[in-house]
Amino acid sequence: MSLKYLFKKYKSDKYFHNYHNVYEHFLHKLKKKKLKILEIGVSDGSSIKAWSEYFKSSLIIGIDIKKIDIKKRKLKKKNIHVLEGSQSDPKFINSLINKYKKFDIIIDDGSHFPKDVIKSFKLLFHSLDKNGLYFIEDTQTSYNHYFGGNPFDLKFANTHVNFFKQLTDTLNYNEIANPFYKKSGYDGLIKAISFYNNIVVIKKGSNIQKSNIVLNNSYENKRYTTKIKRSGGEGKIKFFIKYMIIFKLFTYTFFLINFFKKIILFRY
Ligand SMILES: C[S@@+](CC[C@H](N)C(=O)[O-])C[C@H]1O[C@@H](n2cnc3c(N)ncnc32)[C@H](O)[C@@H]1O
Repeated sequence: MSLKYLFKKYKSDKYFHNYHNVYEHFLHKLKKKKLKILEIGVSDGSSIKAWSEYFKSSLIIGIDIKKIDIKKRKLKKKNIHVLEGSQSDPKFINSLINKYKKFDIIIDDGSHFPKDVIKSFKLLFHSLDKNGLYFIEDTQTSYNHYFGGNPFDLKFANTHVNFFKQLTDTLNYNEIANPFYKKSGYDGLIKAISFYNNIVVIKKGSNIQKSNIVLNNSYENKRYTTKIKRSGGEGKIKFFIKYMIIFKLFTYTFFLINFFKKIILFRY
């Protein structure tokens, strides 16, 4: 059975949003696996029922801030667990992690408020399996001030879409030629981030490819070590003066210009 069929069968709004296309693309190969799937936001249980029928061998864990009547919603099944709690409550999320340890797939279809989405992503990311998938639905709220978003300052608004846009830099953390670059907790752990209409998908995975032009966040270090290696140590002083003094001075000047620019523009 396809997700399109199941979302329609159970009247999940995932069908009306056309999310089945995105989900099917990422999930069809995992259908028969034994997974732990967490969905934030249960409501009437439509999607939980669809997941439980699609992933027959998996455990589906649904959480909701409201008390869900499992009997009334027909969610009393062996492969469904429903828990009450908020996605942005660290105590509740940590108890969830303690209970289930790791999740293979996490779906955020909860409050859709930017601050909640960002908070639960930060709380749950380390509990996502090393090759897991994290889906964030209904990102349109980022673009709407009635839902905590900001349609007037798209580039710098404190929204979840901006949070995930900025997270794309972590895909290339090894290429950032800034010797003052502060490592992020996501560096090396995310393989891909996909943006679709109203839905974002984060694919966890090892990303430890070495840069061919930067070494330890420094272009000069890479150039200097490459030159010395190629010359067999000949001209060491010349290369040191060129890359480790002159080039570094250029980088530090550029760094300082940007440092003051960010202060003037209140970007800190
Ligand atoms: C859009 S509905 C979920 C629909 C369901 N996933 C489906 O596709 O059939 C959103 C649900 O998120 C719940 N919710 C809102 N804020 C929440 C929060 N902070 N933590 C957990 N759940 C929350 C609401 O109570 C509501 O039931």
